Formats: sequence, C-alpha cells, structure tokens
Amino acid sequence: MIIGNWKMHKTPMEAKAFIEELISHDVEAYLAVPYPSLLLAADCAKNSKISIGAQNLSEHASGAYTGEVSGSMIRSCGARFVLVGHSERRFIYGETDEVVNAKVKRALAEELTPVLCVGESDAQRHAGKTVDVIRSQVEKGMEDLDPKHLVIAYEPVWAIGTGHTATPEMAQEVHALIRGLVGSSTPILYGGSVKGSNAKELLLQPDIDGALVGGASLKVNDFLSIIQGS
Ligand code: PGA
Repeated sequence: MIIGNWKMHKTPMEAKAFIEELISHDVEAYLAVPYPSLLLAADCAKNSKISIGAQNLSEHASGAYTGEVSGSMIRSCGARFVLVGHSERRFIYGETDEVVNAKVKRALAEELTPVLCVGESDAQRHAGKTVDVIRSQVEKGMEDLDPKHLVIAYEPVWAIGTGHTATPEMAQEVHALIRGLVGSSTPILYGGSVKGSNAKELLLQPDIDGALVGGASLKVNDFLSIIQGS
C-alpha cells in the first residue's frame, strides 16, 4: 500500500493531470489530496487502480464549525480513506490523542478507512521515549476500536521532509512494536523521506506493509519509482 500525501500542494487541474498520467501507467496507488481536489480527483480515478483520500477531517459530524470539513462530505466526494493525526496536524494545529481518536471514530462512522499517523519527535527519541510515545499514540488513537478496521502509519517526526529517513532496522523495530499492539491484519506503513532509492529496503522489512510518501509523491516519475520498486 503506497499512499502519496500531497499536503498543501496542487490545484484541482494539477491533480487531474497527475492522476491521468498515473493511470496511464496502470499502477495501484493511494493519493491523499487537498479538499478542493477531492471531487475531481475521485472522478478521474473512478474505474482505475487509484484510490483517493483526504488528509484530515472534522471530529464532528456536522454543525457550526466554520472552516471544517466533515467525514460525510469527504465520503460523498468519492474518497475512500483519510489521514488522521499526521504530525503536522498534531504539532502545528495542536491535535491531541483524544481529538485524533474522535476523528478516527468519525472516519469509521462514514465508512472511510482511517490512516492513523504516529511518530516520535527527535527530542523524544533522544530521551529514550520512542517506545512509550508510540505505544501511547497507537493505544489512545484506536481506543474503543478494533484495529483491523484501521491502517497505521509510523512516521518519525525527525524523518519527515528532512531527507533523514530511518534505517530499515530502526523502522522495523518500531513496526514490530506496533504489530504487537494491532495484530497481523492491520497494514502498518512507514513514512518520512521515502523515495525511490530507499523504498525497497524499507518495504522488505517483515512488518513494513507500505509507505506514506510526502515530497516524492508530487512528481509522477518520483512516485512511480517507489510504486514500481516496491
Ligand atoms: P516526506 O513526508 O515524504 O516528505 O518526508 C511524509 C509525510 O509527511 O507523510
């Protein structure tokens, strides 16, 4: 499972051009696109091997929440999945584990597959807290839920957008910990500076089931080199 996370990049027309080109290569992939592109992207991806998702959703079903977007709106655009608790949401927008858990529940209520993102910061890793942080984020994020309905993405914060990816051994160590918490039927993706040149050795690890790709998902050729090499 290879998911591209476009973050705040691409207009609807740019999204359309990208998806049409990707479809011409007949590959299977997932794209988390900005809200304004959802409807057009899902329409372009219809009857293809490309699945479209959103990058966030409101923890509320509907109501007076100016600027927010609900799971049902996302679902009605044709999206199938949604990222929840990406580290940029946690750190820049202050999302707590409680909010993340509420969002995961909203996603499931709307029949969207939640991709629950977890990861330790540089300071937490250096303080020897990685295991505690990851265990807590996973347990709180999926509280009261059956993990088999979720996808987990492990993204060490220090590896996101920095070019410093975790070594396959470092990543596998944390993936094995998560595997122990969620069981064998939940896909666990790795994210953080994944690119064509490092994807394969990461994906060969026994508990790494896919990748969440930021920067390298913005150009078709870069993204293809990850998908085709996996
Ligand atoms: P990156 O981002 O691949 O650019 O490091 C990954 C992510 O934030 O999902």
